[in-house]
Amino acid sequence: MSKVKTTYVCRECGGISPKWQGQCPQCGDWNTLDENIAEVKAVSGRFQSLAADGAIKNLSEVNAEEVPRIPTQLLELDRVLGGGLVPGGVVLIGGDPGIGKSTLLLQALASLSDTQAVLYVSGEESAQQIALRARRLGVSTAKVRLYPEISLEKILLALSNEVPKVVVIDSIQTMFTEALTSAPGSVAQVRECSSQLTRFAKRHGTSVLLVGHVTKDGAIAGPRVLEHIVDAVLYFEGDTHSSFRLIRAIKNRFGAVNELGVFAMTDKGLREVANPSAMFLSQHAEPVAGSCVMVTQEGTRPMLVEVQALVDDAHSPQVKRLALGVEQNRLALLLAVLHRHAGIVAFDQDVFINAVGGVRIAEPAADLAMLIAIVSSLKNKPLPAKIVIFGEVGLAGEVRPVQRGQERLKEAAKLGFTHAIVPKANRPRQQIEGMTVTAVERLDEAVAAAF
Ligand code: TYD
Ligand code: MG
Repeated sequence: MSKVKTTYVCRECGGISPKWQGQCPQCGDWNTLDENIAEVKAVSGRFQSLAADGAIKNLSEVNAEEVPRIPTQLLELDRVLGGGLVPGGVVLIGGDPGIGKSTLLLQALASLSDTQAVLYVSGEESAQQIALRARRLGVSTAKVRLYPEISLEKILLALSNEVPKVVVIDSIQTMFTEALTSAPGSVAQVRECSSQLTRFAKRHGTSVLLVGHVTKDGAIAGPRVLEHIVDAVLYFEGDTHSSFRLIRAIKNRFGAVNELGVFAMTDKGLREVANPSAMFLSQHAEPVAGSCVMVTQEGTRPMLVEVQALVDDAHSPQVKRLALGVEQNRLALLLAVLHRHAGIVAFDQDVFINAVGGVRIAEPAADLAMLIAIVSSLKNKPLPAKIVIFGEVGLAGEVRPVQRGQERLKEAAKLGFTHAIVPKANRPRQQIEGMTVTAVERLDEAVAAAF
């Protein structure tokens, strides 16, 4: 009897080691080796080229016409994809369980099915469950082909017969190929299945959407190489307590990254939110202390977000610093700058920061708004009504410019804001209608201008 061969595969780089080690000998990362029982039978076609025609040419000879996009008709999804799906393109969509990945893709396929041949391959739900969901969504399902299957070989065969223009694989972790003996979801299986599907996509010009599960720390489960194989990686995220869902591109070979699409989960599936600025602002009748509105820029889209701070006397020597939706480390740093350069102390105070609506702001343009909200809560003094504040704050107490200041100010003006405090270099060259702009160079100037 042949002995079962155990190898250890690195989660990060996909490198294979014969024995377990704390550190991956290929990429040097620690604790990334997973046990993997597999005898790799020769996988046929493994080294076939990706393109239908693999000859060497001059780059100028290559036909590089803009390929027509296939719009999904879900405008927010198309925005993130850079205009729609690309024939032969492979898109990986990651997200927490229950966030709405299957719902989104079913809606997209249903709307695509009017004009394209589409196939939905599900390894997670039965045909009946999917039909029930489709009925609940109220989408037209007459032309959506459905295949509940997890065997890659059968799926590839079905694909060759049907040759759909768009395929959804829900999810890549449930698929398995008979060429490998390891369990579905293992690093080797995920990698092999996705590269086989990618090869099919490139050869037949089929657009493939892979659903990927995420691990506890938020990365797509399976090896990092998965992200290298595919053309675009999208993350679908959102607060489980709010109905808003954000989709953003982490990688996109056919468009810009950092684009953001906004959806709301309703009882009839996902609805597009065309004007997200309004939803991240809480509605106060009167200005309240500790609240400051900023304009964040996600991709090409400016968005107004309310940053709230609560500063309260600490009742234990260990003060609390909590940041939701903004970077926790940044908070400690900014409080030190506030003390040093504006003379405002908070070392005996608990400080909590929250970006309203479950939105996550990754850019430093939120610095100034966070600090002004903290000062407002500390002084228990609301900011004037209809004011927006943004800017990066440096360790020397300077207020640094942010990208696309002009567009941010225009978005604020559009939503009825009349005042702004911005970094000096972001002062608009032309007056923005209905907007009074105060440009500041230092943190203490900004604090003085706000109160
Ligand atoms: P689903 O698409 O199954 O998530 P995923 O594939 O990412 O795991 O979404 C399931 C959740 O969405 C479930 O908790 C119920 C909710 N939902 C609605 O609120 N309205 C709807 O119309 C549908 C179809 C789902
Ligand atoms: Mg699902």
